[in-house]
Amino acid sequence: MCGIIGYLSNEDKDIVPILIAGLKRLEYRGYDSCGIVVCNSKSETLIEKSTARVKKLEEKAKNHPFPANMGIGHTRWATHGLVTEKNAHPHCDCKREIFLVHNGIIENYKTIKEKLKKKGHNFISETDTEALAHLIEHFFKDNLEDAVKKALKLVKGTYGLAVISSRDPKKIVIAKNASPLVFSINDGGEVLVASDATSILNFSRKVIFLEDKEIAVLTSKGFKVFDMESDRLKTKEFQELDWTIEKAEKSGYSHFMLKEICEEPEAIRNSIRGRIIAEDGLAKLGGLEKVQDKLREIEKLFLVSCGTASYAAEVGKYMLEEYAGISTETDIASEFRYRKPILTKKTAFLAVSQSGETADTLAALNEAKRKGILTLGIVNVVGSSVARQTDAGIYNHVGPENAVASTKAFLSQLSIMVLLTVFLGRQRDMSLVMGKRILGELEKIPDLMKEILKESEKIKEIAVKYSRYRNFIFLGRKYNAPIAKEGALKLKEIAYFIHAEGYPAGEMKHGPIALADKNFPFFFIAPSDSVYEKTISNMEEIKARNAPIIAIATKGNEEIKNIADDVIYIPKTLEMLTPMLTSLPLHLFAYYAGVKLNCDVDRPRNLAKSVTVE
Ligand code: M6R
Repeated sequence: MCGIIGYLSNEDKDIVPILIAGLKRLEYRGYDSCGIVVCNSKSETLIEKSTARVKKLEEKAKNHPFPANMGIGHTRWATHGLVTEKNAHPHCDCKREIFLVHNGIIENYKTIKEKLKKKGHNFISETDTEALAHLIEHFFKDNLEDAVKKALKLVKGTYGLAVISSRDPKKIVIAKNASPLVFSINDGGEVLVASDATSILNFSRKVIFLEDKEIAVLTSKGFKVFDMESDRLKTKEFQELDWTIEKAEKSGYSHFMLKEICEEPEAIRNSIRGRIIAEDGLAKLGGLEKVQDKLREIEKLFLVSCGTASYAAEVGKYMLEEYAGISTETDIASEFRYRKPILTKKTAFLAVSQSGETADTLAALNEAKRKGILTLGIVNVVGSSVARQTDAGIYNHVGPENAVASTKAFLSQLSIMVLLTVFLGRQRDMSLVMGKRILGELEKIPDLMKEILKESEKIKEIAVKYSRYRNFIFLGRKYNAPIAKEGALKLKEIAYFIHAEGYPAGEMKHGPIALADKNFPFFFIAPSDSVYEKTISNMEEIKARNAPIIAIATKGNEEIKNIADDVIYIPKTLEMLTPMLTSLPLHLFAYYAGVKLNCDVDRPRNLAKSVTVE
């Protein structure tokens, strides 16, 4: 995830080590390139960038000592444009007088860029951020903050922003919309800005967090915070932080996994942002535009992936067949690569991978390319091998996952499956009404997930109660059959003293039922959907054999309490969207069971985040 640092003092001095130290504190968030710019009291500037580690940037900067009184720095996690020095921040205007670092996404950057190009602006990067630097230049008259305010009025999207200018020196202008920013000013008139409290704690513990739609002007003499909409000056108080650096890295959570589970609603928001044209019931997937005519002709899709990503693909199969009317096959990449699938010109291959570097997924992709069919990807890591090697694709935009377990990326994959279904469905027979309905309900999912998060304590109690068992079966039907597998995978991965398997509930009678007894709990995923009655019958059969039962059910279903020993409720949504609501409690269940068993939940034994060998 991108990181921002900014520093200002009232005299020229070697401030590069301060910016570098701040960037090093942000390294844990993951990044692919970095950069700094410093400006001295004579309004001269120096910019350094690197596509390697911050250490490399530090070495480069050491070769050009440059006393300065202000500077900004950035660690970039690519979203728009590959990992190159040109795409690394800071970005600047045509005259190299305005510099900015940005976290977030400028959704309407293409429109802004085209308009500014026509006015003669010269762009050098592929990023969304550069458009903002030129837009600020366009509005710059007397002072930097006015230009930033005017520019941001035209921007659609999210940002944490730090801007400096040699035309209006001795100030840093910062602004926030859905991407965090915090600053501090000490008695010596030094200012420090960061996207993350980890970079500020060594400087001061008295900080101000910016709220959404606030813009601030920071100088050695003090600060002014404005409300962006009304332009009114706001009163802000410093708050004292008692966080350790370690706690700050996890934003106060005890583990990255828990932090990332709690970020699942936001992950969905980030994945669908700017991709829904509500009034037309359309999904706008820019990465697929160049192949959209080919996609119109496609009669079969192969979704290929590993582990958790393969369960997102399986859910996608149900969606694509039911709503887009496309015959869809899913396969585990390690199987696909060695079998002889029938791939015609009307077949497309879709790799699903958080890392984009999973060896089996890459090998399967190469096999599909060899057969000459259209290849696509759903990938989180920009510029990764899958992203580079597919013909077209969709990025998740959820930032790096630090924990080994895939949680927020899985939720993002599910939401992109919905967008893809609407994209392909509307090319075919899906009606405007249906497109609108699905997308409208999808937009509500993050808030519904937040309701589930409020039940975390109850889920924790259940996880702790059941963590003494050594075996579990997870069962679900239709859209939730893959979620049963995801629940089991997470549990055995994170609470690794417990063995767990996931099955489509109808398969239970064909073997697993033999395991049912009072020492073997069954976890049923049973929302009130088209297969609810069938799932309940399976549950009765298990109950008759005295096995403990936990169930996930839809709010308002009281009768299920007569069968299940413990119930976790989820809000109501469309059947095809229930996996997004049912997987969240399963992630929490695995997490709390793992913590109870003293497992290393962020780095479980024997596992790697990205499996780059066969
Ligand atoms: O990076 P990928 O999505 O290709 O990774 C696939 C699997 O290795 C991954 O999902 C794995 O199963 C996770 N540890 C599950 O939490």
